[in-house]
Amino acid sequence: MPPVKPYDTKVMRGVTLRADPARESCFKVVQNATELADYADMSPTARRQRLHKHMHNEMQSIEMAAQTLADFPDAPWELRMGLARQCWDETRHVRILYKRLREIGGWKGEFPVMNYEWSVTCMMDSIPARIAIQNRTFEGGEIDLLRQLTKSWSDAGDECTAELLEGILSDEIQHVRMANVWLKRMQQDDRTVLLKLAGAVNFLQRVTKALEPEPGEMNAAGVNLTGFEHLEVLANVEDRLRAGFTEAEVNEIIRKENELRTAAAGQLRSLSDSAG
Ligand SMILES: [Fe+2]
Ligand SMILES: [Fe+2]
Repeated sequence: MPPVKPYDTKVMRGVTLRADPARESCFKVVQNATELADYADMSPTARRQRLHKHMHNEMQSIEMAAQTLADFPDAPWELRMGLARQCWDETRHVRILYKRLREIGGWKGEFPVMNYEWSVTCMMDSIPARIAIQNRTFEGGEIDLLRQLTKSWSDAGDECTAELLEGILSDEIQHVRMANVWLKRMQQDDRTVLLKLAGAVNFLQRVTKALEPEPGEMNAAGVNLTGFEHLEVLANVEDRLRAGFTEAEVNEIIRKENELRTAAAGQLRSLSDSAG
């Protein structure tokens, strides 16, 4: 693949990321989580915002898979077919969510959007690194989130949205599984793939650190970005195993979650101590 050209990138808080994909003029594209109006509750506005954000994330998923297809024309045919099928699934996800968004009174462009996943993933210059970031990491996280969201929507009395999220979840498990299968295969064929994966993980950690909100930083909806509610997504063990993660890998995810929860609880305690 040719190196990413300078005009294809942007610099965010000291890290170079892929420049935003094209968007219709109805969308307000922002560059920082503080500019997003993401809510932490299930009010009518928050419900529209959640569906709007999910719809936009699925748009990025199509674009990432399609860009990977375009950037790596020499990849194995079966992998390219897998990515093409993924584009088809993601298109369906966008349409389902857009329809539901309109049914509950929302519209395209109602809330600001950010192309975070695209900007990180599409900086990767190898196909193992791309699917490690997009499918295994971001969509792996989506598997956890969707299991939880299905329950939240159901608890809020919206079985219709809960059911469609359940359907999307079953597709996402396949997308993650595809990446896990191919990553194992590619590592067996070529040991240097491991280096590419290490580089990808490193890059993602660097970006996450650079874009991390400061303690107490608020977004455009007045939600504390480091508040406890943002750390409450638990590993969806059953579906992660279905998606091809090993038990050891799932245990490692749970261990990191516990670490994060302990750190957050400590942070909250010291905040309340200083407030008191
Ligand atoms: Fe999707
Ligand atoms: Fe997906």
